[in-house]
Amino acid sequence: MKVGVLTGGGDCPGLNAVIRAVTLALCQADARTEVLGIQRGFWGLVEDRLQPLRPTAVRDLLDEGGTVLGTHNRADPFDWQGRDASAEALATVERHGIEALVVIGGDGSLTIADRFARLGLPIVGVPKTIDNDIADNERSFGFDSAVAVVADALTRLKTTAHSHGRVMVLETMGRNAGWIALEGGLAGGADAILLPEQPFHLDALTERLQRRVAEQGHALVCVAEGATLADGAQHWQQLGGVARLGGIGQALTHELDQRLGKQGTEVRATLLGHLQRGGAPTAFDRVLSTRFGVAAAQALRERAFGHTIALQGDRCVRVPLSAVAGRQRCVPPGHELLDCAAVVCA
Ligand code: F6P
Repeated sequence: MKVGVLTGGGDCPGLNAVIRAVTLALCQADARTEVLGIQRGFWGLVEDRLQPLRPTAVRDLLDEGGTVLGTHNRADPFDWQGRDASAEALATVERHGIEALVVIGGDGSLTIADRFARLGLPIVGVPKTIDNDIADNERSFGFDSAVAVVADALTRLKTTAHSHGRVMVLETMGRNAGWIALEGGLAGGADAILLPEQPFHLDALTERLQRRVAEQGHALVCVAEGATLADGAQHWQQLGGVARLGGIGQALTHELDQRLGKQGTEVRATLLGHLQRGGAPTAFDRVLSTRFGVAAAQALRERAFGHTIALQGDRCVRVPLSAVAGRQRCVPPGHELLDCAAVVCA
């Protein structure tokens, strides 16, 4: 069997561990299997850039961050610089005699995978994203690594916040889903956690931070990049304007500094950015990536095409790509972690 593997969208700790597990599992099951790595996601499929993946070459990849195949987060063959280049992608598959494709990607890449699957391409997906927002999947690899970075950053910010009696605002990734800010904020002891799913009130936030500074001498805010303000549309526009220049964390810091500065409390901003995506995966993510890779190889061997692997109740299951395409898993109202945050941040 000849299998193509690609990594699409933003990179994420654990991608190499999946590439490793898929390749090892396929080649161990049948030594005649040939695995071809497609460079830079769907870009390499259109541009015909492939490289062989051999067990000896992937064995050492378990703890390596990023992706050895490279990736591209603006490469949709169905919308290729304004035209449809899907036929070119399919021609690459045909030319190399690829019988099935493993697409390791987030909601965007899995949606593209679903479109190819509908055209008859045998595909198995593997969910990837630090944002943990893929539909029907309880945990994506990379998320645990990102949460560890956020928790570490908050722990470090706490000591300097306390020394200066300051409020520290930490902005995390998470445009539509606030999982990273929620779990990272809980793990790092944030006093306020602001998510896209729960628009916040500036007055209430200011009052809570004032109280925290009075009680403990400092306060920590963990804000997801997609967080929004509940009240004051006009004011939000103003904040949004600043946000475009420096991010919501910067804008919020500016606003809080104006408000809390009157009582002598300074506010500082930290933008964690791509530090959350770089570096080696945590032990949890190495294991999850390995499980996903082995499960994807198993699905290929059983010809369960048109599915993506997902974690449900600590079991790797297969979910139709069509069920996942175009959907995102945000933090639902009433989630247990929101209850925890409500208690510890009150
Ligand atoms: O992987 C998703 C994500 O991490 C988002 O949280 C973030 O907004 C985005 O990637 C940023 O990616 P890039 O800078 O590569 O466009």
